[in-house]
Amino acid sequence: MVTAGPTHEKIDPVRFIGNYSSGKMGYAIAEELASQGGEVILVSGPVALQPKHQNITKIDVITADQMYQQCVSVFGDMDGAVMCAAVADFKPLQQAKQKVKRGKDNFTLELTANPDIAAKLGQMKTDGQLLVGFALETSNEKQNANKKLRKKNLDFIVLNSLKDAGAGFQTDTNKISIIGRDNILLDFELKSKSLVAIDIVAHMIHNLVL
Ligand code: CTP
Repeated sequence: MVTAGPTHEKIDPVRFIGNYSSGKMGYAIAEELASQGGEVILVSGPVALQPKHQNITKIDVITADQMYQQCVSVFGDMDGAVMCAAVADFKPLQQAKQKVKRGKDNFTLELTANPDIAAKLGQMKTDGQLLVGFALETSNEKQNANKKLRKKNLDFIVLNSLKDAGAGFQTDTNKISIIGRDNILLDFELKSKSLVAIDIVAHMIHNLVL
């Protein structure tokens, strides 16, 4: 299973909280897994992409709550999951039924936490299942990624730093490091997201075989 793209959290009928994730990295990983013979469930937030390989079944979701429900119901049958989605950490506590009108000088929106999907799958994970996370960091990258790896019970974490040119949201390239539970850090060169996907899938296969 692969999660990809952003989630959108509704404020009112015409507005949402979202982020710049294009879904390109997650879709590239799904294509690479499928091209190696995997049957892939791609749980995708709203993006402008479509999967190409016939072994990919796409489940469309919009919100973090929907992504959570789909992932939790599917994960038990999976050999593993790659959590590539940029899930919104917060959603509006209340959604306005009608469009919020202008007229006030200030507007305060109360937010409430979304579920942590990767952490939930980390609790559900059984022996033999592989759980891979991503960390997009802007500071203390390796330290923060390491904390996420342990907190979410991941097998390894793929770190991309927004400090690296060509890495992160919207680009066709990425520059990653992989951190394992043994603290070994692998640094990769800047490359296209499809070549990065090959590196990640190779690392998954290596971990599944071990
Ligand atoms: N993730 C998730 N569900 C969430 C938030 C994150 O499944 N509600 C997953 C992401 O897909 C990624 C990993 O957890 O694989 C780390 O996501 P990231 O946004 O870097 O970290 P957060 O846990 O959200 O922490 P913070 O935003 O505080 O850095």
